[in-house]
This record gives sequence, C-alpha cells and structure tokens, in this order.
Amino acid sequence: MDMAQTRLSMIICCVAICLLNAHKVHSEKLPIVLWHGMGDTCCFPFSLGGVRKFLESEIGVYVKSVEIGNSIAEDFKSGYLVHPNQQIEMVCAELSNDAKLNNGFNAIGFSQGGQFLRGLVQRCPTVRINNLITLGGQHQGVFGLPNCPSLSSRTCERFRQLLNYAAYTELMQNFLVQATYWHDPLNEEKYKNSSSFLADINNERFINQSYVENLQKLNKFIMVQFNKDTIVQPLESQWFGYYKPGQDKETQGLKETELFIEDRLGLKKMDNENKLVFLQCEGNHLQFTKEWLRENLFIYLT
Ligand SMILES: *[C@@H]1O[C@H](CO)[C@@H](O)[C@H](O)[C@H]1NC(C)=O
Ligand SMILES: *[C@@H]1O[C@H](CO)[C@@H](O)[C@H](O)[C@H]1NC(C)=O
Repeated sequence: MDMAQTRLSMIICCVAICLLNAHKVHSEKLPIVLWHGMGDTCCFPFSLGGVRKFLESEIGVYVKSVEIGNSIAEDFKSGYLVHPNQQIEMVCAELSNDAKLNNGFNAIGFSQGGQFLRGLVQRCPTVRINNLITLGGQHQGVFGLPNCPSLSSRTCERFRQLLNYAAYTELMQNFLVQATYWHDPLNEEKYKNSSSFLADINNERFINQSYVENLQKLNKFIMVQFNKDTIVQPLESQWFGYYKPGQDKETQGLKETELFIEDRLGLKKMDNENKLVFLQCEGNHLQFTKEWLRENLFIYLT
C-alpha cells in the first residue's frame, strides 16, 4: 500500500467509526412509558396525551402512556377503584408483551403513578426499566387531604382522623386506591399491618429480597418534589421522607428513616452508588413547564 492508499483507508475507517458511533448514540435512546395519576387518564390532550406528544416530538422515541382497562372511562375510574396490585399486574403483562419495549425503557410516573411504577420495577422483572422518574409521587404515602392545610385547619384535622380511622378497614383497603397508601404516622404499626399496597412495596412487614434486587437494577431513580405542593401531605413523601413516627407535625428526610438506616429496600446501597437523584420544582402539584422538563429531565431520557 502506498501513502495515498493508507490515508484513504484511514479516512474510510474514521468515517465508519463515526457512523457506528452515531448509530450507537441513536440506538441508546430508549422508549418512554408514562403512568398517569389519580383523576387523570392515559390520553387527555391537555395532560398526559399532551406530554406524550411533546416527548415523542422532542426526544423522537416511542412513548407509551399506560391505560388501565379498555376505555378512557375505565382508565379514569381505575385511578380510584382498581387496586394497585391488580393495576401493576395488568401493566406488567401489557408492557412485557410490547415488542417495542423489549430492549428496555425509561419510565415517568405522575403522582400516584409514581409509586405504582416503582411497584412495577420491584414486582415485574420481565420489563427492563433504565431510569425511573417520579413526579410528585408519594413514596411514603400520604396523611392528609388534597388542598387541606392540615396544620392550620381543625376541620381538615377531623376529616383526616376520620379517614384514618376508616382507611385501614379491609373494605377500604380493597376498594379505594388512596387507602392503600394512607400512612398514619400516629400509628405506624397499624399502617404496617394493614396497608395492602404501600407497606408491602416498602418492605415494612418483612423484607422481600426480590424487591431489593429488582430496584437495584435501575440506572437512576429520580424523585421530583414540588415545593409548593398542597396535594401531597407531607410533601417530603415525594422524596421518600415522611413525618417522624408518632406525630404529624415534624417531618424527616429519607436518610433519617428506619427504612433507609436499616436499608430494608436497598435505598442506602443505591444512594452509595449515586443512583438516587432528588430534584425539586417550584410550584404546586405537577405544575411544571415544558422548559422545566427540558432542562431537568431530558438528560435522563436521552
Ligand atoms: C416477593 O415479591 C415477589 C414479586 O412480586 C413475589 O412473587 C413473592 O411472592 C414475594 N415474596 C413474598 C414472601 O411475599
Ligand atoms: C399487628 O400485627 C401483629 C402480628 O399479627 C399483632 O400482634 C399486632 O397486635 C398488630 N397491631 C395492630 C396495631 O394492629
């Protein structure tokens, strides 16, 4: 080979590598799965339907918004009436059978869809979730009513006591989705014994090792907290914090909880491996803008 030939083959080689790399970067973009919150559905154009379109056009990947049931009406009702355990089973089967998701995907959960998606990660190893993003999720549950300023209003406090009394009855645990993540800090033992969803996925009763292992498979677990949230009480639940046990005024961060200190769910290990990401957004529940999404979440979606 003479000089010219060598140079030419080097150039061809470089171009080939460039093309390969370009292809690699492209193929690393994963599809996205969305799970809506309570009082919402997969596809309303002003909410998740709009988010889906936005992500599809900006990131250029397949975006699936999960629908529970066979119609928008069923999907809407399911947010209140289909037990999360059953929802997770249905979504697990559906996503496992979607060939476009076979190579893995990133997932975004909105409000209660956040803890349901985490349940999916823990219970459904047949899907491969790369990054899990929860927006305003309630990882430690709630103890309060939407838009009730619980610390200042007596009526709200009474309501809360009433719901708390009824939330742990078998009837409510079976029929009202929100009761399955009702978390009474005044009676932690009752919560642990009776919560038919959250206490289980948080390994409160006993440690299910497969939950720990499946959660570890995430690349990143990104929790977004809305700093002026009036829906999630306490708002620290969005970052996996909660009220300190035994009272309902003072809160504690995740790292102060027994769950973390005893590492019952493997979150401490994930934190040591820099897998936990805590983001905040100003504004009320799910009040984010497209610019905020672009600036804060796109790096986890591309
Ligand atoms: C642990 O979780 C897996 C996955 O959901 C489930 O199949 C298994 O029954 C659970 N183990 C116990 C002891 O509940
Ligand atoms: C919780 O369950 C344990 C074991 O079944 C039982 O001994 C205890 O009384 C229960 N506590 C409450 C508050 O329900």
